[in-house]
Amino acid sequence: MGNSGSVNYLVKVDEVQVDRIQKLHHIIKSCFNNTNYSAPISKDLERGIEVLDIGSGPGTWIFDMSSDYKKSKFTGIEIESSIVPAILPFNTRFIYHNVLDGIPFYPNSFDYIFMRSMVLCFNESQYEQIIKESIDLLKPNGYLELCEGEVIFHNMGPISRRIFYSMEKILRNRSMNPLMCNRLHEFLAKHKLRHIQQEDVMIPLSPLNGKIGELHGLNAYYSLYGMKDVLAKHMRLSKWETERLIEGFLDETRTYQMYCKYTRVYGEIHSNSQQPIKKDR
Ligand SMILES: C[S@@+](CC[C@H](N)C(=O)[O-])C[C@H]1O[C@@H](n2cnc3c(N)ncnc32)[C@H](O)[C@@H]1O
Repeated sequence: MGNSGSVNYLVKVDEVQVDRIQKLHHIIKSCFNNTNYSAPISKDLERGIEVLDIGSGPGTWIFDMSSDYKKSKFTGIEIESSIVPAILPFNTRFIYHNVLDGIPFYPNSFDYIFMRSMVLCFNESQYEQIIKESIDLLKPNGYLELCEGEVIFHNMGPISRRIFYSMEKILRNRSMNPLMCNRLHEFLAKHKLRHIQQEDVMIPLSPLNGKIGELHGLNAYYSLYGMKDVLAKHMRLSKWETERLIEGFLDETRTYQMYCKYTRVYGEIHSNSQQPIKKDR
């Protein structure tokens, strides 16, 4: 496992990160009232529709959804082939591809497109471009849904503030936005989706706020570990000093009731705004 050179993803993908991404799926789901999506598509999913998940990671969302909705077909697109299990449910498939090179499907291919936790993978203009390309792939009355969390937390202690101050700089230097979740609604509106709806939840990062807080705090800690080389370089610290700082973050989750916002936004495509099918794709 290892990140392809052409990709921006800031977290080094390894077994620890795969486990973290899987656990984060369950944390987010439970905080959104135990639901995997917000769009009003339950009946369509039961009837059987085509679904695309962009940056599907180890496929946790897809596996959960494909077991709930056996008549629907789920496609994951993911750059890292090694993180997807070899044995797949019958109604799923994965395509290994860098979506920054274009999303390799014809227009009118999907009824529902989902993308989550890609804020550390794309800069702002790439993110918007992916939204634009996704909309082109939707069938009439199809839905696009996005979900992102804030990468800067609320109620941080001094060590966490130091880490996340650097993190923000690292991201801004790459034209990435740690608060991308606040722009999702605007992007969907700009690209002319209708009936846009937004759901926000605050997810704790401290065991002082219960089991979810404890698990989410640990998740953030492992995520920082996956970025420790980037952090060390930016902060001009040794590996050891960076690790100590990250341990300090975990300590602070036990005394500061940190939390962050997660946003889920969806919109429906106008049935008359479909692109003509391009013959050359
Ligand atoms: C934080 S994980 C999110 C996984 C999944 N969406 C979820 O919420 O559980 C981001 C995933 O996007 C993948 N990724 C990053 N850049 C990508 C790209 N340019 N094209 C396709 N996949 C990409 C990474 O390999 C990683 O598996």
